[in-house]
Amino acid sequence: MSETQFEHLFSPLQVGPMRVPNRICETTNTINSSMIPGEIDENFIAHHGAKAWGGTGWIGSETWLLNVPFPPETPDEIGLSVGFASHFGTYQSPEFIKGWAKFCDEIHQAGSVAVVQLTHLSAVWAPSSVPVVGAQDYTPHVLGDEEIEFCINTYADAAAVAKDVGADAVEIHCAHETLAYSFLSPATNYRTDQWGGGPRERIRFVVEVLKRVRESIGDSLALGIRITGEEYRHGGAEHLEMREMAYYISETGLIDFLDVDVGHCWGAPSYVPSSYYENAAFKEVGKAARADLDSKIAVMFSGRINDPGLAEGLIKDGYCDLVGMTRAGIADSEFANKAREGRLLEIRRCISCTRCIDEASEPMTFPYTPTCSINPVLGNELRWKEQYRPADEPKRVVVVGGGLAGCEASRVAAMRGHQVTLLEQGDRLGGQLLIAVKAPGRDDFEDQVYFEENEMSRLGVDVQLKTNADVDAINALSPDAVVIATGSLPRLPREIPGIDLPNVVQGWDVMQGKASTGDRVAVISQEDYYETPCVAEFLAERGKQVEVFHKSVHLGSEIARYSIGMVLSRMEQCGVKVHPNLILTEIQADGLEFVSSFGGKTYREVGFDSVVLVYGSVPQHDLYDQLKAEGSVSQLYLAGSAWLPRFMAEATQHGASIGLVI
Ligand SMILES: Cc1cc2nc3c(=O)[nH]c(=O)nc-3n(C[C@H](O)[C@H](O)[C@H](O)COP(=O)(O)O)c2cc1C
Repeated sequence: MSETQFEHLFSPLQVGPMRVPNRICETTNTINSSMIPGEIDENFIAHHGAKAWGGTGWIGSETWLLNVPFPPETPDEIGLSVGFASHFGTYQSPEFIKGWAKFCDEIHQAGSVAVVQLTHLSAVWAPSSVPVVGAQDYTPHVLGDEEIEFCINTYADAAAVAKDVGADAVEIHCAHETLAYSFLSPATNYRTDQWGGGPRERIRFVVEVLKRVRESIGDSLALGIRITGEEYRHGGAEHLEMREMAYYISETGLIDFLDVDVGHCWGAPSYVPSSYYENAAFKEVGKAARADLDSKIAVMFSGRINDPGLAEGLIKDGYCDLVGMTRAGIADSEFANKAREGRLLEIRRCISCTRCIDEASEPMTFPYTPTCSINPVLGNELRWKEQYRPADEPKRVVVVGGGLAGCEASRVAAMRGHQVTLLEQGDRLGGQLLIAVKAPGRDDFEDQVYFEENEMSRLGVDVQLKTNADVDAINALSPDAVVIATGSLPRLPREIPGIDLPNVVQGWDVMQGKASTGDRVAVISQEDYYETPCVAEFLAERGKQVEVFHKSVHLGSEIARYSIGMVLSRMEQCGVKVHPNLILTEIQADGLEFVSSFGGKTYREVGFDSVVLVYGSVPQHDLYDQLKAEGSVSQLYLAGSAWLPRFMAEATQHGASIGLVI
């Protein structure tokens, strides 16, 4: 292996009987990369395999949901697989076993280890009748002794299958919203029998599972647990108590590794921390586990670690032995090889927008494709393998607009050998990303701007900034293909009386410093994602008194459960008051008129100095229309928000897909 500046990160580690080639780990992430529910298809192998070929040493892939004592035809709602249907109860099916054997082979060929995580979810059955997941309202079925025994055996049976298919290790999932977690947590385990009590008693379920699994797999596989270092949940286990339980479990001698993270699936923080948290913000839980446990037990820590330098430091400074870098690999499956080879500027760093988990945690229909805001290949690995090829003959390509769509079209076209000119009217690439980075807690979004800037120069794209492209300017470049990625502009609801008053401004303009507000601000929200919370927080951070009038049930209703807790907690912390279900009907000099979204009742609010609008945005495609009418360009494309304003992932994919076919 070549020399590397990250010697700790790229040194091998013996974990029980398993030799891990380096310290970079894909912790289990059920991103649903298989297009066939309950089977491991070629997409799954290509997706997780790409990380192994990209240099990640430990591949945790996707969890095995264990079976429950119901007939196979039982609907999900009853069958406990709520929200997580893809691999439910299938580990005994021949297709599943065949698929996993093939997958483990692929991982081994790439030189990595395959780790199987075993999970019982707990949403609808649990040790006590306390809802386990705040986002779901089930009062769970309380497990009886026979059911507990059944569950313990399923771990052992599944572990035997994991051994048969060639896995190198088994991880019992005891964190997050799992059944094992709900035995460990004082917030969900109120039992007074042998399964409940203090920390020593609440670990019993986990220890019984470990014993049974060890019997089933023997010593040839490594065995470990995933545990929550601190729940951050009202009534949940604090860090010291979690340390105590982890120590008691380790004392049994049954585990080779402990994989620790922080947070709750609905919490602030959640265990998939967003950009609002610092990188490795909770690393002390790793350090504590490393200090507490016998050195023979490897400690893994994860939580927003997206940079090889940071990961190297965590190992060197004794925070952990293995580093979970899951979304780092989602954003760039080759980041480990790039890090080892010192190609640091080529790494597309995860920006922790949580798009991957937000999509994957919602009920889904198949075929489903995972998405990443910045990596267009994610979930489409097979398609890229089939379709990506150097251009037959290099073309002269002009791209107008340097937002995500324009950059990705340019990047992919240039990678394929085309000669690309990118015209951008602003003084920097990035488009709407440059607005997003101004929001508190979104600084890391700038990493993607740096990535694109670097890629443009690495690939020889001729970037012309401060350039207003028009039809003549484009024709003067004699292009064979033109991509119009001119983005969108904020929507102005002209139908609302008073919209032209001088104290009415656009949220984007406020964030870019093009408009200012008075002290008391009404933010009028017609969007359900991050834009309104970002604008509100931006204003509150500058000392404004902010009230949001939002059209639907709650702010950020498109933000899924792993992230919404953080967004709402930040609104609370910065004193933003939110009024849901209101639609603005008129702006007057001395007040605002609203109608209730559902009931039709009207309301009047007074006392605001400024009104800030967040009404979504309107595509800007005049240039495309003109070029089309003129007919001089044979290959003409409209990309990203200029076609339809959606989210980052859509702009990225749209641009990259065009780059792929030019
Ligand atoms: C799409 C997705 C699915 C996940 N599914 C699981 C899972 O099934 N089991 C699990 O233990 N953790 C799961 N996680 C959490 C990750 O293992 C990891 O702890 C988390 O992403 C934080 O690490 P990172 O910042 O390196 O991404 C999932 C994360 C993502 C992004």
